[in-house]
Amino acid sequence: MPNKLTTKITEKRLTEELDFNSILKASQVISGEIILKNLLEKLMRTIIENAGAQRGFLLLENNSNWLIEAEGNIEDENLTILQSIPINHSDQISHNIKLSIPIINYVAHTQESIVLNDASQEGKFTQTTYIVKNKPKSILCTPIINQGKLNGIIYLENNLTTDAFTPQRVEIVKILSSSAAVSIENSRLYEQLEDYSKTLEKKVQLRTQELQDKNQQLNVTLAKLKATQNQIIAQEKLASLGALTAGIAHEIKNPLNFVNNFAEICIELTDELYEEVDNQKDKLDQETIEYIEEILKDIKQNSQKIHEHGQRADKIVHGMLMHSKGKPGQRKRTNINNLLAESVNLAYHGMRVQDPSFKIKIETNYDSNIPETNIVPQDISRVFLNAINNACYAVNEKSKSYPENFTPTLTVTTANKNEEIEIVIHDNGKGIPHTVIDKVFNPFFTTKPTGQGTGLGLSISHDIIVQGHQGQIFIDSKENEYTELKIILPIVNIISKTTSNNN
Ligand SMILES: Nc1ncnc2c1ncn2[C@@H]1O[C@H](COP(=O)(O)OP(=O)(O)O)[C@@H](O)[C@H]1O
Ligand SMILES: [Mg+2]
Repeated sequence: MPNKLTTKITEKRLTEELDFNSILKASQVISGEIILKNLLEKLMRTIIENAGAQRGFLLLENNSNWLIEAEGNIEDENLTILQSIPINHSDQISHNIKLSIPIINYVAHTQESIVLNDASQEGKFTQTTYIVKNKPKSILCTPIINQGKLNGIIYLENNLTTDAFTPQRVEIVKILSSSAAVSIENSRLYEQLEDYSKTLEKKVQLRTQELQDKNQQLNVTLAKLKATQNQIIAQEKLASLGALTAGIAHEIKNPLNFVNNFAEICIELTDELYEEVDNQKDKLDQETIEYIEEILKDIKQNSQKIHEHGQRADKIVHGMLMHSKGKPGQRKRTNINNLLAESVNLAYHGMRVQDPSFKIKIETNYDSNIPETNIVPQDISRVFLNAINNACYAVNEKSKSYPENFTPTLTVTTANKNEEIEIVIHDNGKGIPHTVIDKVFNPFFTTKPTGQGTGLGLSISHDIIVQGHQGQIFIDSKENEYTELKIILPIVNIISKTTSNNN
């Protein structure tokens, strides 16, 4: 087989002329390829074929190292492409040296071609390791130069025959390698461009992800903002309703005083008239006396009714006026746990007085780590009392419909949470339907029968906690299961200037 190849190459050499047509074709094949791998493959094949080489290598430089990027053999269909084998590497494993490193270094250094017709006999490399060991015959090594810059090196060998690389063939290799130089540069640029577009794509993806994350954060913030805004709107609404309520109460207070006073006077006057009728009974006949006394009785009863209901109206007006207490109460360092315990006690006994059969289980969880805080004790205890009364009323109502298997329970809890005091008043009573839970802080909203509730308790509580103490108040409930009122009060150590000035 080697013999056959030698003959073929020798024959070809004899008949050889510079065939421009096939050079042009080969050159076109090379320049038409942009993918580096394909380009190197075609280049290697074309050069080996056109130069009459037996083996060929194409080396490219990377960080001042020469790497074998293409390797071909006339007998072998398969080429080794883009393995980036450093020539030094093959140097170390000396039994596996593939080509002459001194020749590569010489060409790289001088940027000139070397043609050896019988490498082990002529030229300056006869004594070098590779040549001594492998005794190659013909060697052609030529630089690939583009715009004066060394781009790569082509190394060709023919170990079967001397004088394989005739001047014409050297010329062909030079022409092909110069067109290869441009193509290699282009395909390297193309690779860079692909790399760049891939990193760009990655960057875009990364940025998109970042933007999406930011967006999500913004949405969360927006939702929080909306919730806060709604809370502020609700607070403002309640505050203005409170002010309106107080205003109305103020207007009603005076005429109501007249009604109450004159009703009282009317009662006194009817008593006086009774006495006078008694004094004059000799001058009047019995029938007239009875008639007058009948009328007086009615007048007195009516006046008493007016007085009684007037008193009730007065209480309501008094409650309404709590929305606009002229002077804020005096703040005092107070132990919230004690204040709450007192309120529980007071409310429980109040309920027992009204209804001796009233029963409730009371659970208390007081956090002993709560420091004293500056509050207006009578205002806060008002809030507690109303809440506990509401709870007692709700469990009482529920026990009317579920007399068995129901333990009315009130649970009061306090906790120190990050410089704030959290107070929770929980009952297992009839609960609040979700359709009305938004209204419970409105003044006059009540579900209790006339005379039992004014609907002012929670609206005044809201005023006291939010406006008066810069705290928060929330209600949560499930119908027929529970109601929970949560109050959050800031822990205040020093009596604030404004409050002390106001006093
Ligand atoms: N613990 C509770 N359980 C059930 N409903 C409650 C509770 N607390 C408040 N409510 C509801 O809120 C309404 C308003 O309460 P409030 O402002 O204290 O006024 P009032 O007690 O005079 O009705 C009550 O009528 C009731 O419908
Ligand atoms: Mg109430």
